[in-house]
Amino acid sequence: MTQALDQSANVSFRDEHPDLGDGRMAILAGLQLPQKQINPMWFYDEQGSELFDEITRLPEYYPTRTEVAILRRNRETISECCGEGCLLLEPGAGSSEKVRLLLDTLRPARYVPIDISAQFLKASALKLGQAYPWLRIDAVCADFNAGWDFLTALPSGKRVVFYPGSTLGNLEPDAARQFLASLRTVVGDDGGVLVGVDTHKEPSVLNAAYNDSKGVTAAFNLNLLSRLNTLLDADFDTRRFAHRAFYNEKQMRIEMHLVSLGAQDVRCGGVTLAFADGETIHTENSYKYTATTFRDLAVSAGLEVRKSWYDEDELFGVHYLQPQAF
Ligand code: AVI
Repeated sequence: MTQALDQSANVSFRDEHPDLGDGRMAILAGLQLPQKQINPMWFYDEQGSELFDEITRLPEYYPTRTEVAILRRNRETISECCGEGCLLLEPGAGSSEKVRLLLDTLRPARYVPIDISAQFLKASALKLGQAYPWLRIDAVCADFNAGWDFLTALPSGKRVVFYPGSTLGNLEPDAARQFLASLRTVVGDDGGVLVGVDTHKEPSVLNAAYNDSKGVTAAFNLNLLSRLNTLLDADFDTRRFAHRAFYNEKQMRIEMHLVSLGAQDVRCGGVTLAFADGETIHTENSYKYTATTFRDLAVSAGLEVRKSWYDEDELFGVHYLQPQAF
């Protein structure tokens, strides 16, 4: 049901009541695989989100500030590609901070932030609505990984999906292809996708970005264990695990792991997990793309790269994708 928010005439909120299920069984299954693993989405509880926010401001973590600079510097040409008066959709909008860099030049007819966290989404949409009183904001609380049916209520018009932050890089290449293919369907034949993507580069730069000197990324990684202690009534001792992140050049991805410091048994979700000394839980992949590998990914999803914007050092790229012309 759509609900106009009392405090604001230009902001509406629709709650699709996403069924997030109880992911505990999936977590436990991942922890019992020969290579123990966990989906990186579990990083983002309140503490994890705060730590990630801190990561984005670290000197070594270049992606956020570089993408912001690219968006700021190129907002005119980016807006030309997207087209004034478009319907701008942002899946996983969070605080809707980056979109602010585009709004004044792009002047979309409507902005549709989509997120699974109802309270946060509502608060962010209201804040944005106050800062941009001319902008119509239709916020939707939904799980876009379960499909896009909730968009049928949208009026017609050119649709552009904004997906910044290199979040696409946290998906395995096949899942990234499927996600882009679903966006291709969402935007139809005349729409587009504006996506931020981290680039393949000198490993030392990448390794530093995920092994910061203040240890914030380590705390972010280790926080997963505290989360497991709560969610699965586990007894992980965070002092007996260490953060490890490295660039796997062959796969063009940063891998993050939690390494067991010594052999140990951990009770978790009613089972005992045995760790050998040095054994790891694989907690995240962050894929990096060259212009060519990203173009190939887009093409495999039925999209083509119309235009790309990079910083001077090509640390990060923002791409406007449109449906492939046949
Ligand atoms: C959210 N995502 C794009 C971040 C990344 O760079 O892959 C998550 C992150 N992990 C460690 N540092 C940042």
